[in-house]
Amino acid sequence: MNFCSFPFFLHLYYPFKLINQIMENKKEHWEKVFAVNRENEVSWFQTYPKTSVEFLEMFNLSHDANIIDIGGGDSRFVDILIEKGFKNIYVLDISANAIERAKKRMGEKANKVNWIVCDITEYEPKVKFDFWHDRAAFHFLTTEEKINKYVSIAEAAINKEGYLILGTFSESGPTKCSGLEIKQYNETSMSGRFEIRFDRIKCIKEDHITPFNTIQNFLFCSFRRK
Ligand SMILES: C[S@@+](CC[C@H](N)C(=O)[O-])C[C@H]1O[C@@H](n2cnc3c(N)ncnc32)[C@H](O)[C@@H]1O
Repeated sequence: MNFCSFPFFLHLYYPFKLINQIMENKKEHWEKVFAVNRENEVSWFQTYPKTSVEFLEMFNLSHDANIIDIGGGDSRFVDILIEKGFKNIYVLDISANAIERAKKRMGEKANKVNWIVCDITEYEPKVKFDFWHDRAAFHFLTTEEKINKYVSIAEAAINKEGYLILGTFSESGPTKCSGLEIKQYNETSMSGRFEIRFDRIKCIKEDHITPFNTIQNFLFCSFRRK
């Protein structure tokens, strides 16, 4: 399993304690979520990630395509990628507990995946991706600084003509997720974030039924790297 860390040079500009506190709070939050709750005790749980799979199937990707699930947690999207025969699969999450749980659930199959424990805004990819998927991680970035970092990392990490699929809460969805403030998007605001280096392909809205029988309205958009 790979880990990444906060770039050392930034410590020269900001006090150590403050940076560590901010980073650890977010990480601690997610480590606790995945330590305390079972798979189907979190609102985002899906037995089958139907919308994500439908987006994947829109693009005739080769089995050699580099595919990454950002904030993949212990989602079952990775299981489907393996079933479909993809060979270069990456799952990145800030929480080591989430990744350990996914690995445990998958058993031997987990060896087919490159697991990365990292805050996406500090990620320095070693490869370029043909398909970048993110369901409900991007919307936790609520400051311009973090959002811009994510966008620049995705811009640099996705191959020309590669795909980006983003799922966030829509403007009809909740304002919080896992007890944290999130940023809601509509088609225009999401596209606006990515329009310099990506062409929008398609956006849809989806009602996700949580394990507690509540409804969360999501917006999913797909983009192609220019
Ligand atoms: C709401 S869950 C969604 C999990 C998964 N994508 C799914 O659809 O089941 C959000 C996930 O994003 C991860 N996450 C939150 N902030 C992150 C960050 N800054 N970098 C990487 N992962 C993050 C969390 O640990 C968690 O697994």
